[in-house]
Amino acid sequence: MGKKLLKKLDEAVSYLQKQYKGNPVAGIVLGSGLGSFTAEINVLKEVRYEDIPHFPVSTVAGHSGKLIFGTLSGKEVVAMAGRFHLYEGYEPEDIVFPVRVMKMLGVQTLLLSNAAGGVNPAFKVGDLMIIKDHISFYIPNPLMGKNTDELGPRFPDMSQPYNHALIAKAKTIAANAGFDIKEGVYVAVTGPTFETPAEYRMIHNLGADVVGMSTVQENIAARHMGVDVFAISVITDMWHTDHVQTISHEEVLEAARNAEPKLARIFRELVGSL
Ligand code: HPA
Repeated sequence: MGKKLLKKLDEAVSYLQKQYKGNPVAGIVLGSGLGSFTAEINVLKEVRYEDIPHFPVSTVAGHSGKLIFGTLSGKEVVAMAGRFHLYEGYEPEDIVFPVRVMKMLGVQTLLLSNAAGGVNPAFKVGDLMIIKDHISFYIPNPLMGKNTDELGPRFPDMSQPYNHALIAKAKTIAANAGFDIKEGVYVAVTGPTFETPAEYRMIHNLGADVVGMSTVQENIAARHMGVDVFAISVITDMWHTDHVQTISHEEVLEAARNAEPKLARIFRELVGSL
């Protein structure tokens, strides 16, 4: 498996290096409803996922499916417009394939974003939350199976899943911009169902602040390869202790779109500071 994976990664990377000659320093992954961030990038080259050897192809509404190379705040970046989720039926190894490709293209910092449900009663829809740690809740670890030693160690350290220096910078950016930013723990579930009331309560009792269907596997693959990760959740719906709240994918997308300008500011200035 290890050798086959390396060969696939090499083929994807050589294809992309033919399409784009630069050296991106940061990778950006845009979550549900946050794709308009790509307008911030001075685009130099776009490559459709379906054209990249071995790349998975996204299926969910709100994800367009291309890799965008360009500059942001004067730094070279590569952004994924559209990501891959377990609930779409992909293998964990496919979900993290693009993260590995980005690292092999030169990326040392990965910025992740997502839409998430809030279980911390102090949060409200539209808030941003810096992810300081995560709990993987019954989702398969993407590093299960034979380790590919060329990528990273068998037993990766996870003492700093989200980079402390980047978190500190993001807090300063939000403070200077004059908006409130939360910080907390993300629980990853597979989806595609949103949680039942009992599940939200349990996630709250676990000590988490938000729950979502992405990010953790990408984080693990990035940390495996020594990439620094920063991640942010947009709170798109709230669990309430006193009444039952219905949720739809459309509401999630709309709340994410509304909060996108704040996220854009953080990502723009963080990349500028690299
Ligand atoms: N649960 C899981 N994933 C989510 C949610 C949620 O409430 N909101 C957005 N993504």
